[in-house]
Amino acid sequence: MEKKATLTLPDGKKIDFPVLSGSIGPDVVDIRALYGQTGAFTYDPGFMSTASCNSTITYIDGDKGVLLYRGYPIEQLAVHCDFLEVCFLLLYGELPTQKEKDEFVGMVTNHTMLHEQINRFFTGFRRDAHPMATMVGVVGALSAFYHDSLDINDPRHREVAAFRLIAKMPTITAMAYKYNTGQPFMYPQNNLSYSANFMRMMFGTPCEEYRINDVLVRALDRIFILHADHEQNASTSTVRLSGSSGANPFACIAAGIACLWGPAHGGANEACLQMLEQIGDASKVGEFIKQVKDKNSHVRLMGFGHRVYKNYDPRAKLMRETCHEVLNELGLANDRLFELAIALEKIALEDDYFVERKLYPNVDFYSGIVQRAIGIPTSMFTCIFALARTVGWIAQWKEMIVDPDQKIGRPRQLYQGKTQRDVTPIGKRG
Ligand code: SDX
Repeated sequence: MEKKATLTLPDGKKIDFPVLSGSIGPDVVDIRALYGQTGAFTYDPGFMSTASCNSTITYIDGDKGVLLYRGYPIEQLAVHCDFLEVCFLLLYGELPTQKEKDEFVGMVTNHTMLHEQINRFFTGFRRDAHPMATMVGVVGALSAFYHDSLDINDPRHREVAAFRLIAKMPTITAMAYKYNTGQPFMYPQNNLSYSANFMRMMFGTPCEEYRINDVLVRALDRIFILHADHEQNASTSTVRLSGSSGANPFACIAAGIACLWGPAHGGANEACLQMLEQIGDASKVGEFIKQVKDKNSHVRLMGFGHRVYKNYDPRAKLMRETCHEVLNELGLANDRLFELAIALEKIALEDDYFVERKLYPNVDFYSGIVQRAIGIPTSMFTCIFALARTVGWIAQWKEMIVDPDQKIGRPRQLYQGKTQRDVTPIGKRG
């Protein structure tokens, strides 16, 4: 029997709305007919209680700290798969067979180079430009190189765009870093794995053979897996909204990168490391926590809290394990920032302010420490996040394009401005 919700209007009129159920997770009240039947809108700034779409890609249970990509727990994917397997899963819904994986890896590998003219595009940026600014610009510019060959309603064109973006993001990311350092760009090497190729493009130079460290490559590959997708977060919603107008995927992904840059979202890992550097050592944690609890300070514990997770972010647990592995591999087991982060986490998790608000470490709390240990500069942390999240953005964009329920996103508002009035000629104003 169809479930329904009944709304009683101020004039006493009652209206029923269908209640839809997912395979797991909260039901939704289908209010698409609300405005037509009542002349009223819902009001939900920040979309705290709003499902913007139906999706089969990623499921999060914030209370239990569960994250599933196409039904597989993130804890299992992070251990048993590599990033390109997870890319295949997110894009096509199933884990690949060995043959499917080999073909997929082959396609990605052979799209890693950029059009040579894009190299010159970088020179338009100041050397000290934030790499996220460069990334937004270069990814948006891909529209100029591929837009004419892209019919978003053609499944083959959508698939080629997906391969191009997943394959080229490591190359663009490494080039943004090299441009900052003044070192020459490194071309991709087709005989290397996706993450090893990225490490070489980041840290290799034409002067000597780059030595691959398998522990660091595996750690980076896991960081990519943990950041690959996350339901309808701010940047994914930005990509979907951009795509709903029919914009090409390169422009949509550039919009997603711009949104991810914010410190409340993907920029939190950069802000978290800056926060740890600012605190300095464990003796100052108490003073910092006092500042955070003082609303007037506007200071937040970066890397803590989440719109959905009201329990420990499962990605943060995996990131902390990766931290241990990398720091031990590099002989940095007693890294001062890691020890500070552990002390900060312990104090916060015992403090009523954080307990009452269900504020736990999120994916960004430890990711900065791991990346810093690998040698990635703080300014590159969000670029790495964008690199990893590109597959999630593309998978969600593709799902939206073929969703019969989808139409251009156009929210309404609660208007509280001036009512209609007449213009006074300028000579009579004031
Ligand atoms: C990501 O959505 C996603 O899935 C995002 C992401 C993904 O994979 O795409 O998971 C990636 O963005 C992780 C989040 C990274 N951001 C940070 O670490 C920045 C610090 N955290 C926040 O600013 C905050 O927690 C948010 C933005 C993440 C969530 O904010 P909400 O859900 O809007 O919650 P809120 O701001 O309304 O906070 C509720 C209360 C408030 O206090 P009261 O007004 O109730 O007294 O908790 C407080 C907030 O002041 N609070 C914090 C805090 N986060 C929330 N207080 C101190 N430090 C914090 N970090």
